[in-house]
Amino acid sequence: MTTAAFEAVGLARSYQLEGVSVDALRGVDLRIEPGEFVAIIGPSGSGKSTLMHLLGCLDRPTAGTLRVNGTDVSTLSDTELAELRNRAVGFVFQSFHLLARTAAVDNVALPLIYRGVPRAERRERARRALESVGLRHRLDHRPSQMSGGEQQRVAIARALVGDPQVVLADEPTGNLDTRNGAEVMAILDRLNAERGVAIVLVTHEPEVAARARRQIQVRDGLIEFDSGTAGGPAEPGGSRTGPAAGEGAGRTGSAEAV
Ligand SMILES: Nc1ncnc2c1ncn2[C@@H]1O[C@H](COP(=O)(O)OP(=O)(O)O)[C@@H](O)[C@H]1O
Ligand SMILES: [Mg+2]
Repeated sequence: MTTAAFEAVGLARSYQLEGVSVDALRGVDLRIEPGEFVAIIGPSGSGKSTLMHLLGCLDRPTAGTLRVNGTDVSTLSDTELAELRNRAVGFVFQSFHLLARTAAVDNVALPLIYRGVPRAERRERARRALESVGLRHRLDHRPSQMSGGEQQRVAIARALVGDPQVVLADEPTGNLDTRNGAEVMAILDRLNAERGVAIVLVTHEPEVAARARRQIQVRDGLIEFDSGTAGGPAEPGGSRTGPAAGEGAGRTGSAEAV
């Protein structure tokens, strides 16, 4: 069996808030293979972002285990965790998270600084990443001078500049109009199909979720439905059967009809 990009067993995360414990994730079992394209859906507050932050090594679980490319994150120091994140994962957020007054090319080159890549090579790689999202003509523009769609493409270029195996995108089209949202989805599609980059994306929009080859529905901190790895052999007693699968499949079916 190949090494999973992510393997979570009993993954849990609680937050302590003024003496009250909030169980944002309550024991998630999940395996995501290299090169998969997965959509995570579910109501607001169900734990989607919490899960993404754990997968992206931006946060640590409070219980359970998570392996990223075979490495159990609990064995890593904070520095090692940051290195793993920098190497393996690119993150795209709903609100772009760019430096507004810094040129696009420098925003994109930023993750390479932490890897000790020399300046000229940083700039060259950032230029190529921007080119791959159709922004060759915007290298020296600042995000504050760009449309939302362009800013999100800069953010995707930044996620890609380090050649990650996985791009995690938390509602990447949430702040975009239909046309720009479709453009961002086309870029993610292409990355997955042509470069084999695994994509895990959170979305509220059924038509966006339908673009993925696997749909996972989260509710109340648990996985309620998982369409399973597309194209792969059905697991024995796998998740395509059973009442939850019927419910979820109906939803996915209607999404595809949009
Ligand atoms: N930093 C935090 N501190 C306290 N509670 C949090 C924090 N982040 C998320 N939560 C809570 O955890 C639950 C899941 O949140 P989240 O993962 O952001 O859900 P989603 O992304 O599905 O909307 C919610 O009840 C939310 O209020
Ligand atoms: Mg969220």
